Amino acid sequence: MARKVLVLPGDYIGPEIMEEAVKVLRAVDRRFALGIELEHGLLGGAAIDACGVPLPDETLAQAREADAILLGAVGGPKWDGVERHLRPERGLLAIRSELQLFGNLRPAILYPQLADASSLKPELVAGLDLLIVRELTGGIYFGEPRGIRTLENGEREGYNTYKYSESEIRRIGHLAFSLARKRDRRVCSVDKSNVLEATVLWREVMEEVARDYPDVELSHIYVDNAAMQLVMRPKQFDVMVTGNMFGDILSDAAAMLTGSIGMLPSASLDKDGRGMYEPCHGSAPDIAGQGKANPLATILSVAMMLRYTLGSAEAADTIEQAVSDVLDQGLRTPDIHSEGTRLVGTAEMGDAVLAAVSE
Ligand code: NAD
Ligand code: IPM
Ligand code: MN
Repeated sequence: MARKVLVLPGDYIGPEIMEEAVKVLRAVDRRFALGIELEHGLLGGAAIDACGVPLPDETLAQAREADAILLGAVGGPKWDGVERHLRPERGLLAIRSELQLFGNLRPAILYPQLADASSLKPELVAGLDLLIVRELTGGIYFGEPRGIRTLENGEREGYNTYKYSESEIRRIGHLAFSLARKRDRRVCSVDKSNVLEATVLWREVMEEVARDYPDVELSHIYVDNAAMQLVMRPKQFDVMVTGNMFGDILSDAAAMLTGSIGMLPSASLDKDGRGMYEPCHGSAPDIAGQGKANPLATILSVAMMLRYTLGSAEAADTIEQAVSDVLDQGLRTPDIHSEGTRLVGTAEMGDAVLAAVSE
């Protein structure tokens, strides 16, 4: 049966990295006869330019029809002036919310070849294999009321609402625990329950969920300490589960441990395992149009898509092995470049992975 993948390249480096990821996807589709059909759509700034809104109805309809979605990145200075509710990022948030993609998996894995590229000493990151499970459709990102209002004294006030319902916490908890079962069976829940009530409840519900998984160890940590521990002794963690905003921040920090944010893929899953796949990084306007963005996070997101939604672990393994092979060959984009390796651009890196998956 044909499986539909909706490709949303997005903005700035989005289309550049997507071109490489699509090459690789087409190649594994041919090699493993997966029957994947690709469709392209508009999201973010590209959609604003074409239709005036960051998530056109047509894109949402395409997304609902698709088995999986592959996204580049959205946003950038070109749309800084547009009204708040029409920003490119709102399109991304809306598609996550509309499709109920609550479970965001962000694996920070160090390829041994990149130990030198990490900002930490090689011995601190050697063998790093950490999974951040971020809640993606709730918390302060979506809480109402929100806005900017004028107070009686005439000054303006910006406000957001941090809230989590029990069921929202429970479902992300179950996801984290069930994933931990396939790993080292340790879940560390990150909160700020010394200050925020929403996360007092978060901690309580995580404890309740843990009772269903007696074989998995649960620990708790405050988010400020978690940030410190991540750069001090990152290998102590197996699965970290946390809310939307904390997960956003901690995953960028974790990315750097692996050498570059250009290496970190992600999956955003709904309750049935349908999902959207994207690199954790943004549209990198500072390097767009120069052919030097690292396409590996997007290529590795294709591997996650094959594994989690399209049910082809073999094709996923092939892509991950191919990435390892090109790193063995010494190829490096500027963000992971170090002495003694060969500096390449986006397309050359993509072509090398393509050659390796086609073998
Ligand atoms: P960013 O992740 O785009 O860039 C941060 C830094 O990392 C920059 O120096 C950039 O050059 C570098 N970088 C990022 N991806 C890279 C890659 N593949 N290869 C090499 N270097 C890379 O974050 P930002 O600058 O804060 O945000 C830029 C825009 O992207 C903003 O509009 C933001 O809202 C948006 N954004 C979108 C997403 C997404 O679509 N999922 C994620 C984060 C940020
Ligand atoms: C991410 C991004 C998004 C987020 C923005 C662009 C809305 O930073 O995917 O990590 O904060 O979730
Ligand atoms: Mn982010």
